[in-house]
Amino acid sequence: MSKQWGGRFEKPVDKMVEMFTQSVSFDSRLAPYDIAASIAHAEMLGKQKIISRRDAAAIVKGLREILREIDAGKFRWDVSLEDVHTNIEAALVARIGEAGRRLHTARSRNDQVATDVRLWARDQVDCIIEKVRLLQHTLVRIAEQHVSTLLPGFTHLQHAQPVSLAHHLLAYFEMLQRDRQRFTEVRNRLNVLPLGSAALAGTPHPIDRLFVAKKLGFDRISENSMDAVSDRDFLIEICSCSALLMMHLSRFCEELIVWSSPEFGFVEIGDEFTTGSSIMPQKKNPDVAELIRGKTGRVYGSLMALLTVMKGLPLAYNRDMQEDKERAFDVVDTVENCLDVMTGMLANTRFCSDRMHAAAEQGFLEATDVADYLVAKGVAFREAHALVGRIVLFCVKNQKRLTELTLDEYRTFSPCFDDDVFPLLRLESVVNRRNTPGATGMRQVRRALQKAKKALE
Ligand code: ARG
Repeated sequence: MSKQWGGRFEKPVDKMVEMFTQSVSFDSRLAPYDIAASIAHAEMLGKQKIISRRDAAAIVKGLREILREIDAGKFRWDVSLEDVHTNIEAALVARIGEAGRRLHTARSRNDQVATDVRLWARDQVDCIIEKVRLLQHTLVRIAEQHVSTLLPGFTHLQHAQPVSLAHHLLAYFEMLQRDRQRFTEVRNRLNVLPLGSAALAGTPHPIDRLFVAKKLGFDRISENSMDAVSDRDFLIEICSCSALLMMHLSRFCEELIVWSSPEFGFVEIGDEFTTGSSIMPQKKNPDVAELIRGKTGRVYGSLMALLTVMKGLPLAYNRDMQEDKERAFDVVDTVENCLDVMTGMLANTRFCSDRMHAAAEQGFLEATDVADYLVAKGVAFREAHALVGRIVLFCVKNQKRLTELTLDEYRTFSPCFDDDVFPLLRLESVVNRRNTPGATGMRQVRRALQKAKKALE
């Protein structure tokens, strides 16, 4: 193939422009999808008698051989041939001659690239969905062992009320469940065939788009040729879902980082998933969690990049859109990587029940329950709240816990107190009294675990 398009040009393209416009250095990873789409297209052209059946068969055979060559790493990509599409077409012509020149009938690189990218995106979304599921599975496995492990629940990173560790972990399960749903919705929306839109207006050839859609596993064909070749909203949706997913992973990582500090000591991340320091021999750092937290910024950046690339583009195709690929590839690679590492790290993390329990005994986590106790005895909640506040202040000044006060001491604050307040102060009973749907009471948590397991089937 000539180094400049067809007969329109009298001079070859400037070397600098060739390097500037090429995309094969990164879009060659679309090759398997490009070839699959070309095979479906060629078969359709043959079936519709737009090209001869013999030419169609020769094209299909040639493309399969080229794919084998690419898979074996023997294919020579040529940047002067611009992109993955032209490289493969040129290789086909070199291999089978005249018939190869007929492949591009009734299509354009505009609907070709849109098709390739959708096929690629569909695979990646499936892969992400499965990896999220595996992470959820690991979470559930850990949560099952920690229904009765209690730790302080935090608000403002201050001790608030005791919760079951399983309940805490299942909060992330829920976030990931929504992430999985979001990706599933995106998959359904993106599984639409653009091919047949040609450059922007469709083609006069009697093509069969439904045939191609079926061959490639698309649920539907696009309704508008100009839209089909010129939107990349599906990539932006993937980036957006990825940004949310990364936000969730990042928050979890932040907790693991804080929890692994000696001040907390709630978790110990396994040696395989931590790193040392080049100078401080004692260090064991949660770098993996930090990197996941850090890579979140990179995914957000790509989302912004794609939104910005698209915002000013008139219909239909514009070359700006070539900028979608590196960002989308990077987002998907980053997310898949982070999910793998996160799952591995969690599976290798020890949750230190004793430290958590000890922490839950600090910070007057039972205070709300003492107030609720008074409410049950007829005291108005606001009054009970103020009264228990005074009790806590007394405890702070006298370095006592709520469980350590005597009944007489309690009675100096209110005559409503009786012996029956003490069993209420046990952490287990504080937790288990929260027995409404979605709460941390252990019966509810066990129910939530059953539901979670079902959702993973
Ligand atoms: N490499 C191009 C891209 O990624 C392929 C489509 C080129 N189409 C065109 N009209 N120049 O967008």
